[in-house]
Amino acid sequence: MNILGIETSCDETAAAVVKDGRRILRSSVASQMSIHREFRGVVPELASRAHVERINAVIEDALGKKALPYDAIAVTTGPGLVGALLIGVVTARTLGWAKHVPVIGMNHLEGHLFAGLVEHPSLKPPFLGLIVSGGHTELVLFKKYGDYQTLGGTRDDAAGEAFDKVANLLNLPFPGGPSIDRMAQKGDPKAVDFPRAWIPGTHDFSFSGLKTAVSNYLKVHTGSQRPPVQDLCASFQEAVVDVLVAKTLEAAQTYRLKQVVVGGGVAANRRLRAAFQSAAREKKLQIFLPDISFCTDNAAMIAAGGYFKLKTLGLKKTAKQSLNVDANLPVTSWAAR
Ligand code: KG4
Ligand code: ZN
Repeated sequence: MNILGIETSCDETAAAVVKDGRRILRSSVASQMSIHREFRGVVPELASRAHVERINAVIEDALGKKALPYDAIAVTTGPGLVGALLIGVVTARTLGWAKHVPVIGMNHLEGHLFAGLVEHPSLKPPFLGLIVSGGHTELVLFKKYGDYQTLGGTRDDAAGEAFDKVANLLNLPFPGGPSIDRMAQKGDPKAVDFPRAWIPGTHDFSFSGLKTAVSNYLKVHTGSQRPPVQDLCASFQEAVVDVLVAKTLEAAQTYRLKQVVVGGGVAANRRLRAAFQSAAREKKLQIFLPDISFCTDNAAMIAAGGYFKLKTLGLKKTAKQSLNVDANLPVTSWAAR
């Protein structure tokens, strides 16, 4: 079964065709980075306009010259920017009506976990999922397809948000995560001992204290007192990575889970990937990291999720005529919606 995925929740216009939930046939992503760069953040109105201009070409590109056939469309309905989400949902509904195929709504955050299932046939529920994106940091117990328990989340800033804010403090280009990742490659992670928020006894995270610590450090250490920016990046990154890896492994141990998926833009971080891989070897866990290009926003993860939703719930319960967007859509089990 081929599913056409459509994703427009933030600043990437994306479409993809995925076969049987696991194999990517084609994937197309139009990034808006160059549009938002000068504002050092995503401007919602500009994002919506760019989605409108690009969505048809991106879908055509995903279907390819041979116009791949598809049996259903899966589209992100939330969370995200409401105007941006609407472009994808309206396009999907129109296409579904014109082509007589069902349209399935997908949660973007769940999508980041389904990215781990793509091209990894050995990954099967139950497993632990860590979502680390620009707006969310969540540990999810993925019991079955569509049956979730949120174990913890961030109490303030998301991991990606911390990367973006610290990059701004250091005057590095938008988006901050990849800038810090690049700089940190040549830095010393032990140069500055930034604080780690452990919040013992919970599976929650907190990154705003770390961001404030970097800000204060920069106020106190000026001129020649300040270590090279590469060292600051590596030290900040190490503090984020330490907490994400340790708390995820702790949750895996508590819930006796042997498979762990990490998804979302921050999962593209090279240091985080390496740290998870070596910790997993040590603890005899299997860690599943999507290919770097499928960590950040894409539509293959939405198509994959749509396939499992259709398979699990059946057509009647999945394809809704009234499909709409929800900017604050939480990760909840399918049965609860
Ligand atoms: O999942 P995503 O593409 O969009 C959202 O759903 O939010 O995540 C974007 C976030 C941004 O905060 C970006 O700075 C961060 O992921 N990010 C990274 C890296 N690549 C993207 N953070 C750290 N290292 C990276 N290599
Ligand atoms: Zn995302």
